[in-house]
Amino acid sequence: MIYKPVEDSYLLTEVLKKELPELIIKNNNLKFLEIGAGSGIHLFTAEKIGVKKQNIFSSDIDKDSVNHCNLLGYNCIKSNLFENINDKYDLIIFNPPYLPEDSKEPSNSKIATTGGKKGDEIILSFLEQVKDYLNKNGKVFLLTSNLTPKIDFKKLGYKVKELGCEKLFYEQLCVWELVI
Ligand SMILES: C[S@@+](CC[C@H](N)C(=O)[O-])C[C@H]1O[C@@H](n2cnc3c(N)ncnc32)[C@H](O)[C@@H]1O
Repeated sequence: MIYKPVEDSYLLTEVLKKELPELIIKNNNLKFLEIGAGSGIHLFTAEKIGVKKQNIFSSDIDKDSVNHCNLLGYNCIKSNLFENINDKYDLIIFNPPYLPEDSKEPSNSKIATTGGKKGDEIILSFLEQVKDYLNKNGKVFLLTSNLTPKIDFKKLGYKVKELGCEKLFYEQLCVWELVI
């Protein structure tokens, strides 16, 4: 099932609009990777802001999302996190599934929203692997929610900066910049 953009997607879009122009000025050949591209909303934003289309790469575990992004003309492959990814990138973004398991959630939407029993399992696995896929001075933009167990980025070896947060009535979302 293709994830329909909602508040978390829009917060990440705003962060990209704010941060990407400066990154492109510094490196006009910026190589961009999105894990879990869904509808392709961020691929479109990256292209619109000026990332060269041939430098926009993406993946999703969901084959409908992969097909959809391919139909939009983007390079998107089916991959569980970095399973089928072999290259290195200047910017890697991820709006992950971050909610704790909820037995009432239908299985087709679970894959986009549930991050494991406690909600942080996919994020922790991403953080363990992403270091190997960053170019020198590469950055990660990662979205988290306060409904996910708090993640100690420093303890995991990252320098962290808050790029933007949004308070909804039921949760707070934040996008973090992580560098090694
Ligand atoms: C919260 S949605 C975000 C979709 C889109 N990036 C956005 O911001 O609207 C999470 C996306 O990650 C994908 N996903 C879930 N687990 C994944 C995994 N292990 N590896 C790659 N993609 C995954 C889902 O299929 C879904 O498209």
